[in-house]
Amino acid sequence: MRIGIIGAGNIGRTLARHVAKLGHQVSIANSRGPESLTALAAEIGATPVSVVDAAKAGEIVMISIPTKAVADLPRELFANVPSRVVVIDTGNYHPELRDGRIDAIDQGRLDSQWVARQIGRPVVKAFNNILAKSLLEKGVPRGTTGRIALSVFGDSLDAKATVLRLVDDLGFDPVDGGDLDNSWRQQPGTPAYCRDLEATALRRALTEAVRSRIAEYRAEEEARIRRCP
Ligand SMILES: NC(=O)c1ccc[n+]([C@@H]2O[C@H](COP(=O)([O-])OP(=O)(O)OC[C@H]3O[C@@H](n4cnc5c(N)ncnc54)[C@H](OP(=O)(O)O)[C@@H]3O)[C@@H](O)[C@H]2O)c1
Repeated sequence: MRIGIIGAGNIGRTLARHVAKLGHQVSIANSRGPESLTALAAEIGATPVSVVDAAKAGEIVMISIPTKAVADLPRELFANVPSRVVVIDTGNYHPELRDGRIDAIDQGRLDSQWVARQIGRPVVKAFNNILAKSLLEKGVPRGTTGRIALSVFGDSLDAKATVLRLVDDLGFDPVDGGDLDNSWRQQPGTPAYCRDLEATALRRALTEAVRSRIAEYRAEEEARIRRCP
C-alpha cells in the first residue's frame, strides 16, 4: 500500500519505519519541510514530502502531530483526497503539558472527533494508546504468547478493517473497540491507555472506562507524566 504520514516525531517515525519494513511505500512529512527529513527518510526507506503531498500520498494517511498543530494544517488539505483513503489519527489531547486549552474538547467533544472536524474528514483512532518505545520494540508474530493488543475505533467498517489488518501486520493483536463515539475509552489516562495489555485484558479495560471521568483521566495522566516524564 501507499501510506502518507504527517508527523515525523516519536510515533510518526516509528510507524513509518515499521510500515516501510513491511514493504509499503511510505511518504513522510513534518512542519519544517521535506529537506529536514532527508536523512531520516533515507534511513527508513521512505520519501520525504510536504504535508500537502503526504495527504495525497496514499491509501492510508496517518496524522501523528500534537493535537494543537492539527489546527495549523493547510486548509482544505483533504479536499481532493478520495473518500476511500483511510485517515488515522494517533493524537492525544494534552491541554496542560502541550496543547493549551481547546474549548470544544474541554466542553465534551472527543479528541478524534475534534480532529475529524478540523480536517473535514472521518478518522480512525489508532496507535494513540501505545508508547513509541513499545510500538518500536514489542511487535511480535501472530500467535506469540503475550502479544500486546491495540484497539481501533472508527465509524467506517471498511476503514477500520484496513487499520485492524495493519495493526496485526505490525505485530499486535487487533481489537475493534467500536465507533468513534466510543473512542474516549482509549483516551489519555483510561484503564486501556498505554498499558501494553493482551487482547482479553484490553477489552476488559475498555469496558471498565467511565465516560464521566474523561477529563479526570486526562488530568491524572498529565499529572503522572509530570511526575515521571
Ligand atoms: N510519544 C508517544 O509515545 C505517543 C504515543 C501515542 C500517541 N502519541 C500522540 O501522537 C501525536 C504525535 O506524538 P509524537 O510523540 O510523535 O510527537 P513529537 O515527537 O513531538 O513529533 C511531532 C511531529 O509533528 C510534526 N508537526 C508539528 N506540527 C506540524 C504541522 N503543523 N504540520 C506538520 N507536521 C507537524 C513535527 O514536525 P517538526 O519537528 O518539523 O515541527 C514532528 O515531526 C501526539 O498527539 C501524541 O500525543 C504519542
